[in-house]
Amino acid sequence: MPKKTIGDFMAMKQKGEKITWLTCYDYPMARMMEQAGLDMILVGDSVGMVVYGYPGTVPVKMDQMIYHSEAVRRGAPNVFVIGDMPFLSYHKSVEDAIANAGRFYKEAGVDAIKLEGGVRVVPQIRGIVEAGMVVIGHVGLTPQSSGQLGGFKAQADTAESAKAVIEDALAVQEAGAAMLVLEAVPSEVAKIVTGSLRIPVIGVGAGPYCDGQVLVTSDIIGMFQIWIAKFEKKYANISETMLQVFKDYVREVQEGKFPTTEHASSMKPGEAEKLEKMIKKAR
Ligand code: KIV
Repeated sequence: MPKKTIGDFMAMKQKGEKITWLTCYDYPMARMMEQAGLDMILVGDSVGMVVYGYPGTVPVKMDQMIYHSEAVRRGAPNVFVIGDMPFLSYHKSVEDAIANAGRFYKEAGVDAIKLEGGVRVVPQIRGIVEAGMVVIGHVGLTPQSSGQLGGFKAQADTAESAKAVIEDALAVQEAGAAMLVLEAVPSEVAKIVTGSLRIPVIGVGAGPYCDGQVLVTSDIIGMFQIWIAKFEKKYANISETMLQVFKDYVREVQEGKFPTTEHASSMKPGEAEKLEKMIKKAR
């Protein structure tokens, strides 16, 4: 399957075909996602929590995002890959935002970058788009500013706060973004945003009415056991399988059951005897 483009995603929205998107941070998983026929992969700054064990996404650095994006790109050359701009990589100035977005393109070969915020990041979105890059917006719950939002909690549950989210979404579109992530808002609000925007709206914890869905992979495969958002669906319990594998390995090594000769190589015929003689002679 050829890699989908922004034009394909716009057409999918118009035809009512759902867009599928997951997070990914490494090469083997990216390969599987390409095989599974995923439309898009997000190298999310959620890597900070689910891979590095940080309490949130704020400590994530540009270099970390570049390394993970490079690995994902190599694993999924035919999937639309998005690099997530980490905290303070686009806040200081438009020039800084363009330079950091450019790093994702030049060093990791991504197809788009994503950044959080509505009205307040309009100049950055405009600047990055004018430099020739594809921008995906992210409004509603924006984890990088969760401190200001009162934690990782659902947004837009009052008419006033919902209106602010809708204004943010429209501002992101008018600034030139090609798509929008809408996180942790009620289904009613997501329906209005999806219906009001020309560009595809991808929901995460925003109900069924969006043009597509994105989730954090570690959560849906049951890999990250520390904290899981209420809206994530657990499709498997990989950590249980992995834990059992580690326990079996420890036990088998301790009991001398692994490795057996089946898991080792042998010398060429006659060479072991020859070696024994050589050792005896040298003694
Ligand atoms: O970093 C991330 O994983 C995200 C998704 C939740 C959209 O931004």
